[in-house]
Parts: sequence; C-alpha cells; structure tokens
Amino acid sequence: MSKLIEIRDLSKVYTRGKQKVEVLHHIDLDVEQGAFLALMGPSGSGKTTLLNLIGGLDQPTGGSIAIGGERIDQLGTAALAKWRASRVGFVFQFYNLMPMLSAQRNVELPLLLTKLSAAERRKRAAIALQLVGLSDRASHKPTELSGGQQQRVSIARAIVSDPTLLVCDEPTGDLDRQSAEDVLGLLQALNRDHGKTIVMVTHDPKAAERAGQTLHLDKGTLVEQTARVTA
Ligand SMILES: Nc1ncnc2c1ncn2[C@@H]1O[C@H](COP(=O)(O)OP(=O)(O)O)[C@@H](O)[C@H]1O
Ligand SMILES: [Mg+2]
Repeated sequence: MSKLIEIRDLSKVYTRGKQKVEVLHHIDLDVEQGAFLALMGPSGSGKTTLLNLIGGLDQPTGGSIAIGGERIDQLGTAALAKWRASRVGFVFQFYNLMPMLSAQRNVELPLLLTKLSAAERRKRAAIALQLVGLSDRASHKPTELSGGQQQRVSIARAIVSDPTLLVCDEPTGDLDRQSAEDVLGLLQALNRDHGKTIVMVTHDPKAAERAGQTLHLDKGTLVEQTARVTA
C-alpha cells in the first residue's frame, strides 16, 4: 500500500487576544491509502483541529502535511479551497444540510464548484443518493428525514465529487444506536468497496471497532493505542 497522508512535526497555535494556546504539539502521522483510521481522545484534546488540518479547512502553525505527495500546508487559501473541493469529503456530527433544499439539491451542492452541466450534476447526485440507499427520499427536505437519513444524505454529499479522502467528525455523535450502525456500515462499505480512505473522529468505541486502526490524541499529542485494561 502507498501512503496517502504524511504529517510531520505538525503544530497548531490559536491566538486569543494576547494569549497563545498550542493545541497540537509536534504531531507525526502516516495514513496509508485505503486505511480506515479512528481518532479518539478526550474533549478538547485537539481532534477536530487535527481533522480540519488534514481536510484543508485550516492551516497549521508549523510542520508539514502532504496528501498524495502534495504539500497542502504550502497552498494559499484559494488553491487550498480548490484542492479541498476535489479531494476531500466532509461528514460532520450535525449534518450541516441546507434546510431549504431537497436531499437531491443538498448532494448536488459541492458540484456547483465544478464545470459539470446541470444534467450531469443531477445524475451524479442521484448515483450518490442511491449508494447511501436514499433514492426514494431524493425530493425530501432535511426536516422530513430522520437523523440517520440526514447523515446518509451528508455522506452522499461528501462522496459526490468522488474524493480520495473522507474526514468524519463524530459522524454518529447525534444518532441512536441503530442509525449509528447504519452510518458506520455505510462508511465501512465506502472504505472497503470504493477505496475511500477515511479518518474519523469518534467517542464511540463501537465506531472505533469498525475502523482498521485507532489512534488516541491526548492534550494535543498523538499516542498509539495501548492494550485496554479490562476491569
Ligand atoms: N478557533 C479556535 N480559537 C481558539 N481556540 C480554539 C479554537 N478551536 C479550538 N480551540 C481550542 O483548541 C483545543 C482543541 O479543540 P478541538 O480540536 O475542538 O478539540 P476536540 O475536537 O478534541 O474536542 C480546545 O482547547 C479548544 O478550546
Ligand atoms: Mg471536536
């Protein structure tokens, strides 16, 4: 397998007024192409910060991030936005769907940034909705869907541009057990059958079990998972 993500000596400092807070300290991380990685750790340990850096939503203070050999930490804001649109799909805890738009239109949204025709956008969004098992809900608005269905729409939106990488921030955090299992099964299938590399932040041990590999973040430092002590 080849390496998709190579992170070296990564740090992130947030500045609040005169106060500087370093929330990620000298992180090194390699992720193979085709991996399904779970990232766990206490609240405030820097999981979302790290995920946003990997997905190119934010830029590091120090160190490097290469994705598929490309140094995204060296890209300017516009180039980074363009890179993100074609390479990364995002799945968030609270779905972030547009309430006025149908499932179909929500899934089409990322394609508005491309040169595809309206007909081609419709077709690709329909395929993505089919993949998540929601073809029959295409015309429904988010409020007409359950939480689990909304999350599956957001996954369809994340994959509609056929990105290499999916980054998921607590994708099951707001779901009941059954919907969570459905969403996890879907992510697993996207990883296994469609070759998507997935980095998923989660608090849910059951979610981490579905991933091939789990890493823990503690106060901004990455630690390998140690054998769990069972009482
Ligand atoms: N935009 C920001 N400005 C200042 N501090 C921030 C910002 N985002 C996060 N932080 C701080 O960085 C730390 C890590 O946050 P975060 O990455 O969201 O943690 P986690 O996702 O593990 O809960 C927290 O102490 C948080 O308060
Ligand atoms: Mg977080």
